[in-house]
Amino acid sequence: MKLTLLFIGLFLGLSSAIMIPHPGPLHFHNPPRYQVDIDAPPKVQWAPIMNDFKEPLSIFIAEFEHLLPIPKWIFNAVGVYGKTIFKYQKYVKQVEAIAELTGLPFNTLFTLNFMYELASWKACTGVVVRNNNGTIYHGRNLDFEFFRYFSNLTMTIDYYRNNQHIFSVDGLAGAIFFHSGVKPGKFGLTQTTRNSKSLFTNLQAIAKGNFPSVWLIKETLETEDSFEGAVQKLNTTAIACPIYYMVSGPGINDGVVIERNYDSIHGFYQLNETTSFLVQTNYDRDVPDPWYDRRRIPAQERLEKLNGNINETILMEDIMMKYPTLNVATIMSTVVNPRTGYFNTSTWW
Ligand SMILES: *[C@@H]1O[C@H](CO)[C@@H](O)[C@H](O)[C@H]1NC(C)=O
Ligand SMILES: *[C@@H]1O[C@H](CO)[C@@H](O)[C@H](O)[C@H]1NC(C)=O
Ligand SMILES: *[C@@H]1O[C@H](CO)[C@@H](O)[C@H](O)[C@H]1NC(C)=O
Ligand SMILES: *[C@@H]1O[C@H](CO)[C@@H](O)[C@H](O)[C@H]1NC(C)=O
Ligand SMILES: *[C@@H]1O[C@H](CO)[C@@H](O)[C@H](O)[C@H]1NC(C)=O
Ligand SMILES: *[C@@H]1O[C@H](CO)[C@@H](O)[C@H](O)[C@H]1NC(C)=O
Repeated sequence: MKLTLLFIGLFLGLSSAIMIPHPGPLHFHNPPRYQVDIDAPPKVQWAPIMNDFKEPLSIFIAEFEHLLPIPKWIFNAVGVYGKTIFKYQKYVKQVEAIAELTGLPFNTLFTLNFMYELASWKACTGVVVRNNNGTIYHGRNLDFEFFRYFSNLTMTIDYYRNNQHIFSVDGLAGAIFFHSGVKPGKFGLTQTTRNSKSLFTNLQAIAKGNFPSVWLIKETLETEDSFEGAVQKLNTTAIACPIYYMVSGPGINDGVVIERNYDSIHGFYQLNETTSFLVQTNYDRDVPDPWYDRRRIPAQERLEKLNGNINETILMEDIMMKYPTLNVATIMSTVVNPRTGYFNTSTWW
């Protein structure tokens, strides 16, 4: 009960925070970028990254444990579950590698990798837009509590197989999931939060073996090889928490929003001749956005004004970097061109 209240409090805090502009001048940097062999042992994959991020990650974990005094037995129970019953052992091995490399407790790191399922105080905006040449661009802002800590944990990874670049992702060091990714020439993929009603139903879904919703992004990039394949996988995989997926691709109508329930689709929206962009924040598209969070509308109005004159730079600077799409809680912005594989992650301070 206390925990629920705490989460609700943080969520309400963020709901109002996301309407606050970024204070002072906007300082930007492209976070470190790593080349990783996807078939290497997990410890080899994560060693250079954890070498750079061990310190900020330790600071965040210490602060998190202080801010949210979750009893140790919960972390321990989740950790034991992870190592014994949990279905996706490939991902457990990744967390084990991070724990060994940083000396941080596996149980805490593993539990935190269910951040999306455990808490609903996240925001974010996604955009897919077609320009006058028929090229699709895809953008995403990550808005989250703890933004002061997470800004120091952002990174980009280019995954390789047999020395060939297969896909790129960005995320936060310590997490084995990613928020955005691109498979060059095939598809781009991002998510935004769909606020779920119940922590309990999420836990039930995890226990049933449903795929953790945000982890599915890397899994899809790894296993699917086309826009349609990616959409189909994200349409149909049973997941652990409701979510919005956005997928972009090389074709002129290759831009979708998938509103997902645990085992089904709530809504599906695609670009067509008359709709050249879709902006998705954190609400279902068949009901009006709540009065306290109107982030979708200014972004739509700006896209309308640009009238198809869009490229990588313009999407970043005229849409993703503009208030309220970018606000006090925005940690990073990502711009993707699925046709070329262009992938720009910018972190804001
Ligand atoms: C779009 O077309 C114009 C002229 O036809 C060209 O100058 C521009 O570089 C093209 N942009 C892209 C993103 O292909
Ligand atoms: C983030 O990194 C900057 C620069 O290294 C540092 O000054 C700041 O204290 C760090 N913030 C946190 C919350 O660790
Ligand atoms: C995904 O689901 C939507 C909604 O049911 C459907 O219209 C679309 O054809 C599906 N796409 C694929 C590739 O399965
Ligand atoms: C295009 O997509 C929009 C939004 O999904 C929808 O309202 C509209 O009916 C579609 N138009 C056509 C011609 O399919
Ligand atoms: C995008 O277009 C703007 C304005 O035409 C131009 O200044 C900028 O260099 C272009 N960016 C890219 C990546 O082509
Ligand atoms: C990413 O976008 C920012 C803002 O437009 C720009 O300053 C930066 O040079 C870009 N970085 C890369 C790697 O393209």
